[in-house]
Amino acid sequence: MEHLINKRVKEIELSGIRTFYNMVSQYQDVLSLTIGQPDFLTPQHVKEAAKSAIDDNQTSYTHNAGTIELREAAAQFVKEKYDLHYNPADEVIVTIGASQAIDIALRTILEEDSEVILPGPVYPGYEPLIRLNGAKPVHIDTTETGFRLTADLIQQHLTSKTRCVILPYPSNPTGVTLSQQELEEIAALLSDKNIFVLSDEIYSELVFDKKHQSIASISSMKEKTIVINGVSKSHSMTGWRIGLLFAPSYLAKHILKVHQYNVSCASSVSQAAALEALTAGKNDAVDMKKEYEQRLNYVYDRLVNMGFDVEKPTGAFYIFPSIQNFHSNSFDFALELVKEAGVALVPGSAFSSHGEGYVRLSYAYSMNTLRAACDRIEAYLTSRQSR
Ligand SMILES: Cc1ncc(COP(=O)(O)O)c(C=O)c1O
Repeated sequence: MEHLINKRVKEIELSGIRTFYNMVSQYQDVLSLTIGQPDFLTPQHVKEAAKSAIDDNQTSYTHNAGTIELREAAAQFVKEKYDLHYNPADEVIVTIGASQAIDIALRTILEEDSEVILPGPVYPGYEPLIRLNGAKPVHIDTTETGFRLTADLIQQHLTSKTRCVILPYPSNPTGVTLSQQELEEIAALLSDKNIFVLSDEIYSELVFDKKHQSIASISSMKEKTIVINGVSKSHSMTGWRIGLLFAPSYLAKHILKVHQYNVSCASSVSQAAALEALTAGKNDAVDMKKEYEQRLNYVYDRLVNMGFDVEKPTGAFYIFPSIQNFHSNSFDFALELVKEAGVALVPGSAFSSHGEGYVRLSYAYSMNTLRAACDRIEAYLTSRQSR
């Protein structure tokens, strides 16, 4: 019967991150720096809010778009923090993680043969969803522009079929962010074009050197931009599965239909927890961010000392060193590190073909783990040189 399975589903593959993670879990005594999951606990007051919600019997369906309290809090949060203006009544949708927000956004705007521009290397969650819509991902090589998708690069790849540009900044896997100037140049290019922007800002609370800026805060862009956010990374709440989607009402009303038939609504208990996170806990990410930045500085210095060429990240909790001084193939190098050094990093090829020649290290791990992993990598590279 397998031949009856939808061809597009058959053609997509499991994420290379997970595949690699599953593969290395067979090896003993490996320090894994592979997963993009904050190592902090969900803040206690957020957990208490969820417990109270259960005791208060907040256990039924909510409005399809999420409780009005949470939508109001989400709108207030992005207004205060990023100068974004959305009406909680009809421009905010609470989703099952950022992942589902991306899915329903793409399903609403894409058609057969639409083209979607996105940077490469890039988070592997977009491509399969684009392909399931019969649309075509157009990965642009950003390895020459410090992993930044520039207006020039976008312009070179625009066609009459371009329906959407994905701006995933701060970036997983590279940790880079775009400057206000770069966002304005992209806005100037796209403002008179019938092209949507999907701005995945799930790491917006983890920007080190400045305040996070969203392209939707540039006035000409709100009408064509879908902003994706959520509490997974900002509040260490990956398992609660709460994402947020912000879009102008003409667009949100159609996205909401897809969402409604897809999941009805996000978990009521998780929504109560997210409400607490975005109100009483609106600055919960500040301390986590300080810790991530210290770890970044440590890991960056160690990698540079070992001889890796690496762009210093300004956000998220990943660093993406080039392996060209050591190996030509990122999968083989990552496997070698697992077997010989006892450290797991994700091969860059998991982030599109433009990630080949790099590895991703997640520093969402304790300083002790990071120190031990860096020591192991360094010892291995030194012994390799003397062979
Ligand atoms: C860039 C990016 N977008 C979206 C997601 C998915 O987030 P969520 O867990 O909220 O679905 C991730 C998760 O790693 C991510 O890195």
